[in-house]
Amino acid sequence: MFKILEKQVFSPIIKLFVIDAPKVAKSCQAGQFIILRIHEEGERIPLTIADFDREKGTITIVFQEVGKTTKQLGAMEAGDYIKDFVGPLGEPTHIEDVDTVVCVGGGVGVAPVHPIARAFKEAGKHVIGIMGARNQELMFWEDKMRAACSELLVTTDDGSYVRKGFVTDVLKEVIESKGKDNIPLVVAIGPQPMMRAVCNMTKDYGIKTIVSLNALMVDGTGMCGCCRVSVGDETKFVCVDGPDFDGHQVNWAELSLRSAYFKAEEQKALERHECKCGCGGGK
Ligand SMILES: Cc1cc2nc3c(=O)[nH]c(=O)nc-3n(C[C@H](O)[C@H](O)[C@H](O)COP(=O)(O)OP(=O)(O)OC[C@H]3O[C@@H](n4cnc5c(N)ncnc54)[C@H](O)[C@@H]3O)c2cc1C
Ligand code: FES
Repeated sequence: MFKILEKQVFSPIIKLFVIDAPKVAKSCQAGQFIILRIHEEGERIPLTIADFDREKGTITIVFQEVGKTTKQLGAMEAGDYIKDFVGPLGEPTHIEDVDTVVCVGGGVGVAPVHPIARAFKEAGKHVIGIMGARNQELMFWEDKMRAACSELLVTTDDGSYVRKGFVTDVLKEVIESKGKDNIPLVVAIGPQPMMRAVCNMTKDYGIKTIVSLNALMVDGTGMCGCCRVSVGDETKFVCVDGPDFDGHQVNWAELSLRSAYFKAEEQKALERHECKCGCGGGK
């Protein structure tokens, strides 16, 4: 059992937990993730390690409530216990030998991009951070991102905080103002359409772009095949080969089709979960 030591509520749908998980904290690196199961009969969900403290033996996760399990998780409190907390899983992000890197985080993607930006900065690279959210209410960790980056640019889709525009608008401005030859690498993490839009843009400039894919997962060990994705001419498994991949090689159309595969079942699970009539559907 893994104890929730701290809970922070960033918005009605975005929450942070600090979890007591010394073995995971001891060996995890930027870019890796965990798979948790709330209780014996719960589904396994992957969440990125957003921060860790090796001395305290803790792992921080930040998640957005989208369906049954993330809503159940969001209802838990400090002092509660999570049944399984497995990790670290996946390959760590490769800290490439570049002078400058742009780390782009969209929405809840700010959480996974944070340790990657910090790792690049600790390796002596110039890190330009770009973080964006739909609106000010959904914005979090500006302070942590400012500390993890050499410079930070913030934007909101609706203009309710700092400036109006998508992260892609800001990225284009950065590339144009610094010159594409001075931006050798972009790391982009966020919703699939955002990562795809970043890749479409950087491909035109010829800038290498790493993305962190959020494929559907079951076992997280490379055995079930659920998270397979086409990258270039190869079939890869996000859980063991990723989650980082060259965004210009990813078959985005196939990935988005596969991500929507269980939409009807997910909707039914959520409706049962939210049933308050006392029939037991909420279990
Ligand atoms: C390696 C990895 C790291 C992740 N890290 C984070 C993180 O740090 N924070 C965070 O909030 N989420 C993260 N996710 C996504 C998270 O796992 C899903 O949101 C979660 O599994 C949804 O479970 P659910 O039962 O609440 O919703 P479901 O009922 O399963 O799904 C509800 C909706 O979410 C979409 N969805 C389901 N699973 C995923 C998925 N794996 N990725 C994206 N969308 C999904 C569905 O298409 C559907 O529209 C990560 C996913 C992966 C693969
Ligand atoms: S989750 Fe089963 S192979 Fe990746």
